[in-house]
Amino acid sequence: MNFDNKIILITGAGSGIGQAAALAFAKAGGTLVVSDINEKGGEQTVQHIESAGGKANFIKADVSKYEEVEQLIQSTVKEHGRLDIAINNAGIGGTMAKTHDMPLADWDKVMAVNASGVFYGMKLQIQQMLKQEGGVILNTASVAGLKGLPNSVAYTASKHAVVGMTKSAALEYAKKNIRINAICPVFTITSLFDPNLIDAFSAGMSDKLKSKIPMKRFSTTEEVAKTMLFLCSDSASFITGQAMPLDGGLIA
Ligand SMILES: NC(=O)c1ccc[n+]([C@@H]2O[C@H](COP(=O)([O-])OP(=O)(O)OC[C@H]3O[C@@H](n4cnc5c(N)ncnc54)[C@H](O)[C@@H]3O)[C@@H](O)[C@H]2O)c1
Repeated sequence: MNFDNKIILITGAGSGIGQAAALAFAKAGGTLVVSDINEKGGEQTVQHIESAGGKANFIKADVSKYEEVEQLIQSTVKEHGRLDIAINNAGIGGTMAKTHDMPLADWDKVMAVNASGVFYGMKLQIQQMLKQEGGVILNTASVAGLKGLPNSVAYTASKHAVVGMTKSAALEYAKKNIRINAICPVFTITSLFDPNLIDAFSAGMSDKLKSKIPMKRFSTTEEVAKTMLFLCSDSASFITGQAMPLDGGLIA
């Protein structure tokens, strides 16, 4: 897969899945706009890309703030002239608690970042892609966007929202040369899914989660990144409106 001359924006690219994706797209020739709320992580991703001979710049933005996302897209287009691929990947897990104990502030925060953040991104990215008559959007949802996940009502609701938004928008722009898909990873080891923290919430829980995966292991960020490259590449030119599980067989 070749992304030469493609301008690729990834939010939440300062760590985990977003960082792995940024490195993989840059290695495949893409010019990266690395965005994150975490300046240090974002700059680190740019450094990794540049030291491997790739091209990237960092723009700080909080995806839950519309004005900051607007600024992000405007700066990207001002600098590069277009936006070929946008990956709305920034997300948070929120507190683990049963529904009746879920703090209201936690619900609001998770929905603001994971759901509104993706909506703000898509709204502005699509405006640009309509002007340039094409583009690709990929949203990072989760298996929690396809099925329930106990102790994570806000996260599950936000990821179901991402899957819904992806499908609706894909239908709206299918004739406009804009493809929109989502990926639905499960248990990928990052700061968001840290088996040690899971075990601190409930002893032995991470092994229990692993045992539920038919492949009996967690996923790596590199595995997720490879699927992202495929879905954003011309090889996936007839794929739109999909929410693709990366789950070691769990949904099956
Ligand atoms: N790790 C998993 O098991 C897993 C499974 C399914 C889906 N996901 C999704 O993958 C995406 C990436 O998560 P990850 O696992 O790499 O975790 P991560 O914590 O390593 O990365 C998330 C990144 O998003 C950034 N971020 C958080 N809030 C932000 C905001 N308001 N504005 C901009 N950036 C913000 C963080 O600073 C961080 O760099 C998330 O959407 C997450 O829900 C992760």
